[in-house]
Amino acid sequence: MQSAVLPVYLALARAVEARNPYTFEHSVRVADLAVRFGRFLGLDGALLAATEIGSLLHDLGKIGVPDAVLLKPGPLTVEERLLLQRHAVLGCAIVEPLGLAPQVLAVIRHHHERWDGMGYPDGLAGGRIPLSARLVSLVDAWDAMLLARPYRGKLGELSARREIRRHAGSQFDPVLAALFLEFLSGGRQQDVPAASQGSLLVLGAAVV
Ligand SMILES: [Fe+2]
Repeated sequence: MQSAVLPVYLALARAVEARNPYTFEHSVRVADLAVRFGRFLGLDGALLAATEIGSLLHDLGKIGVPDAVLLKPGPLTVEERLLLQRHAVLGCAIVEPLGLAPQVLAVIRHHHERWDGMGYPDGLAGGRIPLSARLVSLVDAWDAMLLARPYRGKLGELSARREIRRHAGSQFDPVLAALFLEFLSGGRQQDVPAASQGSLLVLGAAVV
């Protein structure tokens, strides 16, 4: 399948790299894995393309977060955390002139929402969170856990899987989390949709 990523999206993602190389590499990996997981779920067409573009640009708003917060090696204060959390809304504001599809904007704005409604920026819960954002939230967390950061070591795959399972139903959509673990256990080796038939209905793709 052809990538939906146009040069302008790549250029935007690279603009973030100038601030923080970690973010660009992370975004490319998240986009790659999100597309493969999306195919595994049976997503295609506009929704898969939106998932790919949204994943690549999900942290674009970090370009507007001060270095003192973005690159801080230790834990953030409450004020610093609020500044960092602005990246979800800021990312949407930056790409607004591009007239991107609502599903792309949904990934950028909602990739930090939580299934239990305790996420940001809108505190959406459950199926009210667009599917593409729920999907990217999982892949984003997975990639972040596998990478060592200045403030913590990296987790191994087994520990990261345990974390996904532990937070299914609170942070993550429980059905999607179970399918992601299934995908990680072998489905990602395949390049064709392999998820149980009807999984899209279970996930409520129409909510997107
Ligand atoms: Fe983010």
